[in-house]
Amino acid sequence: MKQRLVQLSLGLTTVGLTLGLALLLSCASGQERRPDVIFVPTPQPVVERMLELAKVTKADVVYDLGCGDGRIVVTAAKKYGCKAVGFDIDPVRVKESLENVRKNGVEDLVKIEQKDIFTLDLSGASVITLYLLTSLNEKLVPQLQKMKPGSRIVSHSFEIPGYEPDKVERVNADGFERTVYLYTIPLRKKSQQE
Ligand SMILES: C[S@@+](CC[C@H](N)C(=O)[O-])C[C@H]1O[C@@H](n2cnc3c(N)ncnc32)[C@H](O)[C@@H]1O
Repeated sequence: MKQRLVQLSLGLTTVGLTLGLALLLSCASGQERRPDVIFVPTPQPVVERMLELAKVTKADVVYDLGCGDGRIVVTAAKKYGCKAVGFDIDPVRVKESLENVRKNGVEDLVKIEQKDIFTLDLSGASVITLYLLTSLNEKLVPQLQKMKPGSRIVSHSFEIPGYEPDKVERVNADGFERTVYLYTIPLRKKSQQE
């Protein structure tokens, strides 16, 4: 009996250690990285206005950081014929975006990648779209500041704190007023009084 109990407790300890190690390894490899903000889609009229405000043309490359169902990159490619890349950390969103790209026949222009946006080199983009949170926009500033001068950033609802927008516009959608912020690289710091 005593021997069975020792065997059982040894077995449980091994299972516990194995699970602990697996968790540690998956965290270390980034597999357990959760979205920093949940998926809430930007209403289509706001998507359209964001791209207009950024003056997107065929020559642009649009990155949507946290692309959700891919509506912004799909709209950019369909409307302007430009290249676009959507990044999302959530595999469900990546699957939805890929389906959206396929349904709209823009596979030649749009790529979707499962990546953490805070690990990205943004120098390949000329336009960035955001619908995240003020705190996440702030965290992105060092990456944004490395983009080519003249690149544009449009953010739905949330500003980049401490930086002067070129334009702030209100857009009506679904019976609510949404705010869109436009910035140009290099970002300009707000003066102290503001
Ligand atoms: C509010 S939704 C915006 C979706 C889309 N851009 C739009 O405007 O319709 C935010 C998206 O960011 C993704 N996300 C959150 N944290 C992320 C991270 N660290 N890296 C990549 N994607 C992330 C979420 O999975 C979600 O799809």
